[in-house]
Amino acid sequence: MSNSPTQIQLIQPDDWHLHIRDGEVMKDVLADTARQFARAIIMPNLKPPVTTVDLANEYMTRIRTQLNLLGIDHFTPLMTLYLTDNTSADEVCKAKAAGIVAFKLYPAGATTNSDFGVSDIKHCYLALEAMQAVGMPLLVHGEVTSVEVDIFDREAVFIDQVLEPLRKDFPELKMVFEHITTLQAAHYVRDAATGGKNTLAATLTPQHLLMNRNAIFAGGIRPHNYCLPVLKREKHRVALLEAATSGNPRFFLGTDSAPHSKGAKETACGCAGCYSAFNALGLYAEAFESVGKLDQLEGFASFFGPDFYSLPRNTKQITLVKQAQTIPAELPLGDSVIVPLRAGETIAWSLS
Ligand code: DOR
Ligand code: ZN
Repeated sequence: MSNSPTQIQLIQPDDWHLHIRDGEVMKDVLADTARQFARAIIMPNLKPPVTTVDLANEYMTRIRTQLNLLGIDHFTPLMTLYLTDNTSADEVCKAKAAGIVAFKLYPAGATTNSDFGVSDIKHCYLALEAMQAVGMPLLVHGEVTSVEVDIFDREAVFIDQVLEPLRKDFPELKMVFEHITTLQAAHYVRDAATGGKNTLAATLTPQHLLMNRNAIFAGGIRPHNYCLPVLKREKHRVALLEAATSGNPRFFLGTDSAPHSKGAKETACGCAGCYSAFNALGLYAEAFESVGKLDQLEGFASFFGPDFYSLPRNTKQITLVKQAQTIPAELPLGDSVIVPLRAGETIAWSLS
């Protein structure tokens, strides 16, 4: 990778955690992602969720139809299935044969469209055994949901109550701790003993690398900075940025870009999710540059993800340029509009 203060070249990145929804909305968000990324892991938390191979195949067909309509032929969706209390070992084997790249664990009630999620991980042990046996990764929304646990502690408590026991019971199951938000998670993933095997990784979002929880309350309530897991204190942001820029291949890019209409965010009980897809790479570049680590961006964005999933690295190069760009105040979203992350603000880096 060549590196200069005004331009960076890197192998084209992939987004290892993305929500594109369905129908009319999907077409408006897909183009933003495909402009920057070659592939993306497509989250299955639709209404109803994508729980079977047949549903995933139908969803993939709808995605491909939209890509065709948009004239995009260079973008590959990587499909996932939504784990439930009733997922069978058979469905896991069928998923492996069908090219599904992972299952997603949503603890029931943890976030958007998680009502059909897992009520107790013990209910999933047969499916998890099958996943471990066939080499199917488990992607984890790592938060406990009990009302007694403070919302800012839910990720750290999940590590002790769920993740650590799970890793003991399934030492060879590949897992990705998604969109980590705490120092505890960053250090847990960094230090996890895996017997020399590459079994545990984590994704990091642009919002958790760039903002702390003050951003939700800056001068008034800021619904567009609200996502789950919720932003944490500054010491956590610093630890996440250190992990992302460390060159450790266990940490890689996953935007968790999660579109909700402006109306669904700016209301009495607003939805969780930040729409970062519009200029996600520019946001990551800003975060890496803030600690003088632009030279570590390519590994994080383009190499460590495919290496973890045993997929080939991309070969095409892209260029990011340091050229001020103002993020639009709103973008079209089906018959509504969406407010992107950092709307109306100027950011330094964007795709050439
Ligand atoms: O903020 C979030 N939004 N976190 C999630 O885990 C889900 C996502 C969504 O689908 O809207
Ligand atoms: Zn997500």
